[in-house]
Amino acid sequence: MRPRVEVQEAADIIEPYSNWMCRKVAGAVGVEICVHFICIQFKCSTTSPTSRPFDGFQFAVTQVQIPLHGLFMSIVPLLTTNLPGLTPKSGKVRDIYDFGDRLLFIATDRISAFDWVLPNGIPDKGRVLTQISRFWFGRIHVPNHLLSMDLDDLDLPAGINREELIGRSMVVRKTKVFPVECVVRGYLSGSGWKEYCASGKVCGIPLPAGLRESEMLPEPIFTPATKAESGHDINISFEQMVEIVGADTAEELRRLSLHIYETAADFARLRGIIIADTKFEFGQIDNQIYLIDEVLTPDSSRFWPANLYAAGRGQASFDKQFVRDWLETTGWDKNSPPPEIPAEIVEKTRDKYIEAYEILTDDTFPWL
Ligand SMILES: Nc1ncnc2c1ncn2[C@@H]1O[C@H](COP(=O)(O)OP(=O)(O)O)[C@@H](O)[C@H]1O
Ligand SMILES: [Mg+2]
Repeated sequence: MRPRVEVQEAADIIEPYSNWMCRKVAGAVGVEICVHFICIQFKCSTTSPTSRPFDGFQFAVTQVQIPLHGLFMSIVPLLTTNLPGLTPKSGKVRDIYDFGDRLLFIATDRISAFDWVLPNGIPDKGRVLTQISRFWFGRIHVPNHLLSMDLDDLDLPAGINREELIGRSMVVRKTKVFPVECVVRGYLSGSGWKEYCASGKVCGIPLPAGLRESEMLPEPIFTPATKAESGHDINISFEQMVEIVGADTAEELRRLSLHIYETAADFARLRGIIIADTKFEFGQIDNQIYLIDEVLTPDSSRFWPANLYAAGRGQASFDKQFVRDWLETTGWDKNSPPPEIPAEIVEKTRDKYIEAYEILTDDTFPWL
């Protein structure tokens, strides 16, 4: 919960107020540490000049940085959005606001694992995912849903906190979504590896004998899945996909998926990241197909550091592996609300997401 207070007294406000806010924030996030730096945003709720000019001002903490293992990190994740008068459609990670033919597509800092959203988030994760998708949209020459990164392109209600939305929001075309997850696998991993061990196939596609875990496939394969409203997506055959979207569309989505994966995987490999597999979504407006949703992020793909790669075992990865590994140690039954992620795991996970952004884009993450 973002601390928000009405300031009663104006005189000498910044110093005592900052100290007080430090204590309040540290208490609110349950971390007994000194808050070194606070960005505060001033919001004037009265325009009439009075003898006490600070009356009615609101202070909202937008960013807090704490020293943790010598590093500074932002500790206030954005878990929910609140646009006055508007109701979002919420996925596991995104809050989506409908503006007619466009959507405001906001990636929160929520994190899911084993199909559950965890109670706390990873600060700035939504920004990492959004900026990585944006990066790819600019490089992949396939029509996509991104219209703009500028919130001013929408008629937003007054009183929203723009600061927290910047960097994690996209204005996108609203499309009719094809109800199929377009998965491409370039390497043998996860459920694909298990299936291969049992049957020599992945999603019904026969593969050569003798492949090892994490081994590169002779060529990338397209393995569609249903888009489950809740719980696990279910793998389907290409023939089942044809039944859902029709033969022409199924073939076009397969062609696009393989083309995008191959282009992106070649690029990422040069930067030192192996994209082992990924999932795309597509939508349609009239007869035009658009690449939608998030694209080639650590949440929708397996990213492996190329310098640590070796076939024959599992790989280090740039995603929520720390969270999954930690969850496995907690005794959580995966059938009830999951426990809160400890600060150390939050920090490591945040670092991994940011590292993926920086390696891929060869750029410094702007919200460090
Ligand atoms: N351009 C678009 N038009 C309509 N729906 C979209 C568009 N882009 C993404 N979506 C949908 O928005 C949702 C994204 O929210 P997310 O939190 O990732 O959901 P999920 O829990 O289903 O992964 C997905 O259901 C996706 O199909
Ligand atoms: Mg999603």
